[in-house]
Amino acid sequence: MPDNASVSHVESVRDAALAELAAADTAEQIEAWRIAWLGRRGRLTQVLRGVGGLSPDERRSVGSAANRVKSLLEQARAERQDAVARAKSDADDFTDAIDVTLPGWPTPVGGLHPTTQMIREICDAFGSMGFDVVEGPEVEWDLYNFEMLNIPKGHAARDMWATLWVDQPDEDDDYPMLMRTQTSPMQIRTMQERKPPIRVIVPGKCYRYEATDATHEWHFYQVEGLAVDRGITFADLKGTLYEFARRIFGEERQVRFRCDYFPFVEPGVDMSISNFKDPQTGKRPINRDEDWIEILGAGMVHPKVLEGVGLDPQIYTGFAFGMGPERISMLKYGIEDIRLFYSNDLRFLNQF
Ligand code: DAH
Repeated sequence: MPDNASVSHVESVRDAALAELAAADTAEQIEAWRIAWLGRRGRLTQVLRGVGGLSPDERRSVGSAANRVKSLLEQARAERQDAVARAKSDADDFTDAIDVTLPGWPTPVGGLHPTTQMIREICDAFGSMGFDVVEGPEVEWDLYNFEMLNIPKGHAARDMWATLWVDQPDEDDDYPMLMRTQTSPMQIRTMQERKPPIRVIVPGKCYRYEATDATHEWHFYQVEGLAVDRGITFADLKGTLYEFARRIFGEERQVRFRCDYFPFVEPGVDMSISNFKDPQTGKRPINRDEDWIEILGAGMVHPKVLEGVGLDPQIYTGFAFGMGPERISMLKYGIEDIRLFYSNDLRFLNQF
């Protein structure tokens, strides 16, 4: 009887094949194993071929043992193949996760709007000088936006603020509503709520019934300031606004005050920052053919305004100011068109 013709031989073929399969770690090794054991000249195939030459008894026992081993090995091969494939894909995933040499994925994060950034910068500057930040309504009474700011009905100064009315003003309607044209009404609200010493800064949105162009928007922000106490003088106003300009525009810039008119202050001024040509380069800090650029209006709170909120102007004085943060950004960053701020063009917004 040839050596390969016994059931025990079939079993030893099976054990050897399984041991070798367990050591096959790649798809290629498994394929080589299949050819070596189950292929046309494979070792098990040869055993099966030899069965034909056996006696009928042996043929039955060895034949059926060899067939069982064949299906066992086929199944073992399929399982091994799965296991190797799974291990490989896990390994691939793992490698992906920790490939520290790959450049990182950029994570898109939003940024603060340039107006928000400028408002924060302004509030920080005044905050460190002891001003509180307060906010007020955008839909406002005529009473606060005009009347109590010493701009009675029919006053020519109302023309300074083209107004979007919520109520159509008429004879009987004493205090119609409007979209505030300025943050100055918060001077009144603040003085009604707080007792001096008052030092507040009020950022907020304002509206004007105006056609838009490169320097005008129908909605924009203002930052109002108000300080009221005993003995506040124009020197306090100047000192505070100097310090503010120094923080926003830097040490080298000069500041100029000129007389200006606003009904709720007396005297009223506007403040400009210097924009002189550099003698060496001939360039100006801001590319505009002007030596001085106006950045805000200000003044000493008008005695009538103080009286209106029940403060005695013989005892209390104060200063107020109002500025446009977009205009200040435009000057600081050389932005030529105010409409860029609210047209939501990411090519513009992403630069900040
Ligand atoms: N509210 C004024 C405007 O919109 C700006 C302003 C001027 C505010 C003088 C003030 C001030 O507080 O004192 O044109």
